[in-house]
Amino acid sequence: MIRLHVNVDHVATIRQQRDTIYPDPVTAAAICELAGAHGITVHLREDRRHIQDRDVEILRRTVQTILNLEMAATDEMIAIAARIRPDKVTLVPEKREERTTEGGLALAEPQTRDAITRAISTLAPLGIGVSLFIDPEPEMVRASHELGAPIIELHTGDYTLARTAEQRSREHDRLHEAAAVAVDLGIEVAAGHGLDYTNVQGILDLPGLEELNIGHSIISRAVVTGLESAVREMLRLMGSL
Ligand code: PXP
Repeated sequence: MIRLHVNVDHVATIRQQRDTIYPDPVTAAAICELAGAHGITVHLREDRRHIQDRDVEILRRTVQTILNLEMAATDEMIAIAARIRPDKVTLVPEKREERTTEGGLALAEPQTRDAITRAISTLAPLGIGVSLFIDPEPEMVRASHELGAPIIELHTGDYTLARTAEQRSREHDRLHEAAAVAVDLGIEVAAGHGLDYTNVQGILDLPGLEELNIGHSIISRAVVTGLESAVREMLRLMGSL
C-alpha cells in the first residue's frame, strides 16, 4: 500500500491572504487524518508565506500519523526541526521568488552537499527520517545515497507538466529508472509535486514507491466540492434559505 501524505500549505495560503485565524491548517490536518491520510506535510518557508512556526508547533502535538516537515537545509530550519522534532524532514531547495518548489536539490554543488550533511548529521541522531527532494536522475539518487539519506522524494513536476502521451511516457520512464536505482541502493522512495486526480495513477507502478506527497490538487478539490454547502450555510444564517 502506498501512503498518502497530504500537504496542507494551501490552507495556510488562504489564511495568510487576510491575516485571519481561519482556515487553520491544523484543523485541515485533522480532517485529512480522519479521512485516512497516512501523514501530514507542511513546508515552513524562510519567508513564512503560508505555514507559520505556530502551525508546526501545534501540528507536532496534534498529528497522530506522520508529520513531515519540508524545509531548506539552513541553520535556522535545522534548529527548528531539532526543537520541534517532526517524524520526518524533507529537504528541498528554496528560492524566495519562486511560486512553489521548482526543482530538486542541486546535489552536485558543494555548498548544497555541505548543508545536507549538516542537516542529516543533526537530525538523524534525533530519530528524524531525512528525505531529499531530487530530480528523477540516477546520479541524483546515487548522490543522495553517498550523503547518507535513507529516503528520497522524486520530483514528479516534469511528469505532471507533460502535455503529450509521448512526453508523459518519457517522464514516467525517467521516474521509473531513478526509483529502480533507489531500490537497488536500499533507499526508500517517495514522490510528489503537481500530482492530481488525472495523473496520479500513471506513477503508481514506480519500483519501491512507498509514499506520495500531494497538496494543491486535494485542497483545490476541497474548495470546489465544499462550496455548495458553504453557500447554503451562509444563506441559512441570513434567513434567506
Ligand atoms: N513534495 C514537495 C517536496 C513539495 O515541495 C511540494 C509542494 O510544497 C509537494 C510535494 C506537493 O506538491 P503539490 O502541492 O503540487 O501537490
